[in-house]
Amino acid sequence: MKEASSNLVHLSDYQPSDFQIESIQLIFRLFEEGAEVVSSMTLKRRKGALVDVIKLDGEELELRSVKLDGKSLSPSEYSVDEESLTLSGLGEKAEIEISTWIKPQDNKRLEGLYKSASMFCTQCEAEGFRRITYYLDRPDVMALFETRIEAEKSRYPILLSNGNPIDSGELEGGRHFVTWQDPFPKPCYLFALVAGDLHCQKDRFTTCNGRDVDLQIYVDHKNADKCDYALDCLKRSMTWDEQTYGREYDLDIFMIVAVDDFNMGAMENKGLNIFNSSCVLAKTDTTTDAGYQRIEAIVAHEYFHNWSGNRVTCRDWFQLSLKEGFTVFRDAEFSADMNSREVKRIEDVNLLRTAQFAEDAGPMSHPVRPASYMEISNFYTLTVYEKGAELVGMLRTLLGAESFRKGSDLYFERHDGQAVTTDDFVAAMAEVSGRDLSQFKLWYEQSGTPQVHVRSSYDAAAQRYVLHFTQSCPPTPGQSEKQPFHIPLALGLLAKDGTSLPLAQANGERTWVYELREAEATVSFDGISQEPVPSLLRGFSAPVKLSYDYSDEQLLFLMANDIDGFNRWDAGQLLATRVLQRLVANIQSGERPVAPTSFIRAFDALLKDTRLDKAMLCKLLMLPTESYLIEISEVADVDAIHEARESLRKALAVNLHASLLKVYVDNHDADSGNRIDGEAMAKRALKNAVLAIMSADSGAEFTSLAEQQFASASCMTDSLGALSALVNSGQRGVAETALAAFYSRWEQDAQVMEQWLAVQASSQHFADLDKVKTLMAHRAFQLSNPNKVRSLIGMFCNQNHTHFHHVSGQGYSFLADQVIALDDMNPQVASRLLTPLTRWRKYDEARQQLMIEQLRRIYSKDKLSKDVRELLEKSLPD
Ligand code: TRP
Ligand code: ZN
Repeated sequence: MKEASSNLVHLSDYQPSDFQIESIQLIFRLFEEGAEVVSSMTLKRRKGALVDVIKLDGEELELRSVKLDGKSLSPSEYSVDEESLTLSGLGEKAEIEISTWIKPQDNKRLEGLYKSASMFCTQCEAEGFRRITYYLDRPDVMALFETRIEAEKSRYPILLSNGNPIDSGELEGGRHFVTWQDPFPKPCYLFALVAGDLHCQKDRFTTCNGRDVDLQIYVDHKNADKCDYALDCLKRSMTWDEQTYGREYDLDIFMIVAVDDFNMGAMENKGLNIFNSSCVLAKTDTTTDAGYQRIEAIVAHEYFHNWSGNRVTCRDWFQLSLKEGFTVFRDAEFSADMNSREVKRIEDVNLLRTAQFAEDAGPMSHPVRPASYMEISNFYTLTVYEKGAELVGMLRTLLGAESFRKGSDLYFERHDGQAVTTDDFVAAMAEVSGRDLSQFKLWYEQSGTPQVHVRSSYDAAAQRYVLHFTQSCPPTPGQSEKQPFHIPLALGLLAKDGTSLPLAQANGERTWVYELREAEATVSFDGISQEPVPSLLRGFSAPVKLSYDYSDEQLLFLMANDIDGFNRWDAGQLLATRVLQRLVANIQSGERPVAPTSFIRAFDALLKDTRLDKAMLCKLLMLPTESYLIEISEVADVDAIHEARESLRKALAVNLHASLLKVYVDNHDADSGNRIDGEAMAKRALKNAVLAIMSADSGAEFTSLAEQQFASASCMTDSLGALSALVNSGQRGVAETALAAFYSRWEQDAQVMEQWLAVQASSQHFADLDKVKTLMAHRAFQLSNPNKVRSLIGMFCNQNHTHFHHVSGQGYSFLADQVIALDDMNPQVASRLLTPLTRWRKYDEARQQLMIEQLRRIYSKDKLSKDVRELLEKSLPD
């Protein structure tokens, strides 16, 4: 809509910087009223650059003094505005010294230097460093950093920054200092500083070349008993990256700090990762199994960035997926190796299909390598991260594991110490494999989810089976026409007896990676003596929406027989989706929704199948979520979708009571709460999944079972599993009693309180808008803490569909109120929270109007942040 184009940053405008900053020495003098930052930089003009002017980025800084080549400048000799400081008269080499004053204690945006509780900490990615001092705040400016921190010793005994400590000592007035030196040049987004009174948990790691590394985790003293798991994950990550990618750690210390107020999950600052407390602290009493898995993935992710992100970084922020897509791919492989590969793949695909596909189809749809942005913080998206990881996965599928490893070796070796592009990454892969990846690169440039339609025909006389493929991609903002993608489609053919046929195209292997490159293509299989059932897109080999007209019988057949675990699961999901879609149609035409007995029988067979891996069984028992059903709807009828899914859950609970109870009893092991191995976790997941289904038919038996589990739980997974089942059983009194008990047991633990809020807010059976408003006034909630905002408001607006989308529109005006309130405080959080309102095109006419009305109301607020403005301008109708 509105002409926002003038405020956009374009990839096509990229120019290298006229100056490089070779080194920077920083002094931080931290006080309760603010902080003085003195920066001394050595700059060098780029060869061929002719200008003597430099424009340094800076925001909300109080400039105190500037020196150029040792000479103090008077205000007439430079110019300052809201976002920059411009100096002129620079020679080929220049020394600049700048002193600024900042107010970390007033910084509620959590970008730059800020205070979380009593601790000073930083978050500089993407453009937070400019809130600390004037600088060339762009990733292709890489400098050597030396950082001296001065603070009151009793309040801030721990003073940390990147690299190695090289000096420390006492100062007057009870103050002290520590100086840190980072031997690797880095962009300023990787700078970090921490000052606080923290517990330090220590460990050691010896690298493959025998170098000793100190590992240190810094946390609040009260969390001293929650560090072991993250340390264990870290050591496993370090070993895995040596073995899998040949990547050795490069400093003598690796530190992790846990921070309570943090905009995202964690940050890969060189040698000093800063983590959201919820992504690092763990103990079985307080952390669920899902929490453990998340910590494992994020610790690994941030560690892996040391190579994919830090040693080799991004030229500009359009290349964000260069580090994020690759690093997500790496952490997913790590998790797959540590746990179950198939289960990990199912979880990732679920996220991609539910949330990334929705993003691809919404107003913020953008390519993995965007061409423009207004606010870069808005582009830390599922598309850049998750779809970006899929692109790396496709490259490996196309090249094969061995060649892919050669490609990554070449990439790291060739670009070590450089700031590069996604083209450089693909070029390394092309070079080692000799493959032409030019069409493949469209995946980085074209937005939207490709659709692949497949038809088959069989000629018995000729013994020939033919697959016909067509691909297309719907128009997305700024891209009405698309070129065909290069799609690796892993496939196989199943004979009537359930075996997968050897395929000539794959040299007799049973899975063949067919490369679809055209808009339309046909593949023939000869010597096929009976019509097979195709198994398509095995392992979800490409991020596309694939359709083939399977009969229900064929899906059941695939579920039972396919050699690809992902596709066995997917066949079941497709079957369940069909059942749910028919129930939705029944409800919409005023009929009573009746679950088909064939589906209930198939579900019962799963429950009784003792050969199945428990973690996998758990995934097979998951019904498609309401969010997924909304995503695949043309116009989403949230009420009908909710009713349909509930009626199916209820039919399962009523009809399969005995089977569910047996699975529950067989997997309930009250004493293994302190075990976090795969077997114990799978049993708990399965038991709690079954309990959740049973809650749909909540008689006295269910209630006492859940209450018993709640009362005797020996770990948070079981406690929360029972609490969630009780809250979702629709029995108010029972739910309130359990919630009160849970609260008084855990009110001191911020991470558990996040769960307590989330369980309530996401429950359509429990929390209406009034309940959410009541919780906002509760002392467990703070609007200034992003985790609490996400747990309460975010959960309500993204999971509690029927109440958020209530026809009155009150959910929408509530969200608008919160976005308006948050925008002045923390624009990144405000902008993310706003997302569900921008998806108005998914809903009926009346809701569309109500949602647009609220978007307009936010838009009329004065002093809107760039973050929120960009989402509004992209989502408001013309
Ligand atoms: N680079 C971080 C990661 O993915 C992401 C991140 C952490 C971030 N904090 C942020 C991005 C704040 C933007 C703003 O590991
Ligand atoms: Zn990352």
